[in-house]
Amino acid sequence: MIGRPLQLGPVRLASNLLLAPIAGYCDLAFRTIVREWSTDAAGVGVGVGLACTDLLSPQGLLRGTATSLDLAATNDFDKPVGMQLYGSDPEIMAQGARWAVEHGATIVDINMGCPVDKVTKKDGGSKLLTDLSRAVGIAKRVVQELERCPLSAQEWQRRVGNSSLVVPGVTCPVPLTCKMRLCWYDADYHAGNACSPHLARMLADVGVVGVTVHGRTTEMKFAGEVQLPGIARVVEAVNGAIPIIGNGDVREPEDAVHMIRETGCAGVMIGRGALSTPWIFRDAWALQVAGRVPAKPTERAIIESVRRYLQLMVQYRGTHYAMVQIRRRMTWFAKRLMTVDGRGRLVGVKPLKEAVRNAQTPEEVSAVFDQFLAGGLRGGAYEPDQALAES
Ligand SMILES: Cc1cc2nc3c(=O)[nH]c(=O)nc-3n(C[C@H](O)[C@H](O)[C@H](O)COP(=O)(O)O)c2cc1C
Repeated sequence: MIGRPLQLGPVRLASNLLLAPIAGYCDLAFRTIVREWSTDAAGVGVGVGLACTDLLSPQGLLRGTATSLDLAATNDFDKPVGMQLYGSDPEIMAQGARWAVEHGATIVDINMGCPVDKVTKKDGGSKLLTDLSRAVGIAKRVVQELERCPLSAQEWQRRVGNSSLVVPGVTCPVPLTCKMRLCWYDADYHAGNACSPHLARMLADVGVVGVTVHGRTTEMKFAGEVQLPGIARVVEAVNGAIPIIGNGDVREPEDAVHMIRETGCAGVMIGRGALSTPWIFRDAWALQVAGRVPAKPTERAIIESVRRYLQLMVQYRGTHYAMVQIRRRMTWFAKRLMTVDGRGRLVGVKPLKEAVRNAQTPEEVSAVFDQFLAGGLRGGAYEPDQALAES
């Protein structure tokens, strides 16, 4: 599986690496940055195979609420793109899936892993892991709806981007994937009774073309170590019927290779690792196909990418949104901006983060970046990667 591009139904991705949905973070502006880091000088994709929207409410999409439409926004550079839906009503999910197909999705995904009360109290997200017949019923109904709205060969051509169709020039439906956790309760996992192997098999039987497994239980939320044996059990259970995508705690390119080796998964999805290191897909793919990780981007390249990210947010979502986001996102980008002082100690960029937090306009943020590139705004202890869930 190392270095082998992932195939999801009729779509062959450019790599086996996927950007995870992270609500409030993986919007169009961020997906664009990740794709830019994955594109070489010739414009060829060399890293991220698929990027997904954050979880979308089908009701919101169908009603056309501004927030849902903003979250589902995509464009011609943002491809191939998955659109993730959450909910528990098969009919509404089916209509949401149709909406996604009509608005640019290359893949539709169902969220079966979200542990947040707001979602599980309405029986969606990982609550579906406690009611497998409902989970499978939703998937079955969505597959049926997707089959009713196949894309023409021409439309497929437009949507695949750097990926390709397995059989070019055909009319076929947009495929469905599901993203889940190991199971709800820790005790079930430790007793060998996790539902994910069984559920993945049942989903494959109703036409789901791939399953992502975040190697934690719902009870674990984002704490504790990701359980690679739990992912391996799902891989074993489906026995090659569909690809399993492993997910959880991949922060370095080596972690992706380790996950593939330990679990036999066909692809790796990366979430929080991409927030601090949007070029991680380039590195993890290079490690797989060439056996080595490219040189770390220069400080200037990182800052220019953050500057562009800010501009894109202003363009897509307006100044207020962009300023709120850049203030909290700078902490993530800063994780890769440490320097070494004269005594060989790692020095952080606390003054840079503070200056971005205090800036009032995008122009002021840009001026802060110039000051940093001129050698200023360094100091304070280097803060290594921490779990986003803590924030
Ligand atoms: C703040 C936050 C928001 C998330 N939002 C989503 C979401 O919208 N849909 C989803 O399937 N998973 C969501 N996740 C879970 C991630 O996709 C991923 O499964 C998890 O973070 C583990 O992978 P990682 O260690 O690579 O981040 C979210 C995680 C975090 C921390």
